[in-house]
Amino acid sequence: MSSFVPPYPDRPAEPLSVFSGMRMARQNFLSIWPEECFSFDMFTMPVLARTVYVCNSPDTVVKALIENHEAFERKSPQMRHALEPLLGDGLFISDGATWRARRRLVSPIVHASNLPIFAPIMAEAASELAERWQGFASPTPVDALASMANLTAEIICRTVFGRRLGMAYSTEIVAAFSEYQRRINQLDLVYLFGLPDWLPRYQPLATRRAARRIHGVLDRVIRSAREQAKSGDASMITLLLDAKDPETGKPLDDLALRNEAATIFMAGHETTANSLAWTWYLLSQSPEVEAQLQAELERVLGGRMPALADVPRLVYTRAVFDEAVRLYPPVPLLARQATRAERIRRWTIEAGSLVVVVPWLLQRHRRYWDQPDSFVPERFLPDAPGRHDRRAYLPFSIGPRVCAGAAFGLTEAILCLATLAQKVRLRLAPGAVVAPVCRLTLRPGDALPMIVTPR
Ligand code: HEM
Repeated sequence: MSSFVPPYPDRPAEPLSVFSGMRMARQNFLSIWPEECFSFDMFTMPVLARTVYVCNSPDTVVKALIENHEAFERKSPQMRHALEPLLGDGLFISDGATWRARRRLVSPIVHASNLPIFAPIMAEAASELAERWQGFASPTPVDALASMANLTAEIICRTVFGRRLGMAYSTEIVAAFSEYQRRINQLDLVYLFGLPDWLPRYQPLATRRAARRIHGVLDRVIRSAREQAKSGDASMITLLLDAKDPETGKPLDDLALRNEAATIFMAGHETTANSLAWTWYLLSQSPEVEAQLQAELERVLGGRMPALADVPRLVYTRAVFDEAVRLYPPVPLLARQATRAERIRRWTIEAGSLVVVVPWLLQRHRRYWDQPDSFVPERFLPDAPGRHDRRAYLPFSIGPRVCAGAAFGLTEAILCLATLAQKVRLRLAPGAVVAPVCRLTLRPGDALPMIVTPR
């Protein structure tokens, strides 16, 4: 069994002052937590005029995300204002009646029942990359983070737009999304100073320009998809065009359609890319885990490309991925704003306060996990003794706002890992330093230099 302890940022020796905490959070949100935070069940942090409540145990998480979901369904002001120019009233940042209506309409489209349409596209894009890498005559340096970002962007573009349009537009749309995300403000000072939510937030010109570029592409794709509704291949856009709200019977209008397409793209691209990059890194550092993974691929697939039906049989591959997103949850912070006063344990949380669940802390909690900082995929095998509390494991969140694309993301990750790992070996490049950082999502720095060797 592996007991490799992969890197985490230095933990401050004592709690930080508000200002140094804010400064560090802006650079890397993972570096602000002293060791004791990994043992607390619930605690508060004053930030300027606000109090932030951190739920960090199975019972407090269930209170915030399931039992009192309605009080805490609104996303944080930081998230809403940062993403509103791009996503409008899209599912990811809306709440109340709009969120419920969109969730009813969008989740069946990204749901597991549509995987027979999307899984072949995932396997096809992964095979294309595997073939390119297999064509290397000698060990070749690659940026595994950028390679995984390109791969998952290809997959999400081909599944959202359809194969033909996806291939035509992927480069343009990926560049615009990256530009947008680079420019996003990390802290919403208007909120933290206690000022009202309706005050306009400053968005740099480059951010607004990137949003306009994305909207331009999406509008063109939606127009083409409408024109070819009958002849084009099935895609999330064509499914969204046909979808009717099960309660009202109404379809989405063009603006709502664009907002939901942007939402799916944003939610489904970088998360999967980062988690795949972390998985390659962890495998490269744990020869015994890699050997077990290879043995499973040989036993189940014997050299052929994986298909959707193989995914449930790739149990060890799945455990490796589950453990990678425990150690490095792509969404390490779930932040909500209370819409009414509510109690959790001994705290009364006033309307307007921030309630956060931090998978980065909870998934390494000293009491709820054995060897919390070590890479131990075996803990996720179905017959593992004393399995962990499922409510301490939230890479896809839980409750009514759970990730709508969890089955999509998991299937995509397993198919990509199984396809690539059969064809190539990835080793960390000599001298490469891997340091987890979080801005919107948790990634292994700005690049992950690795060496690809064909098998
Ligand atoms: C490893 C891959 C992924 C991870 C770890 C992940 C994680 C998450 C998490 C933690 C949330 C909740 C965020 C919050 O409450 O602030 C979320 C929401 C969401 N995700 Fe994912 N996700 C992944 C892949 C995907 C994919 C592939 C799609 C679509 C194809 C997707 C679509 C969505 C949507 C639409 C929401 C918003 C749900 C709502 O607010 O009701 N995700 N995801």
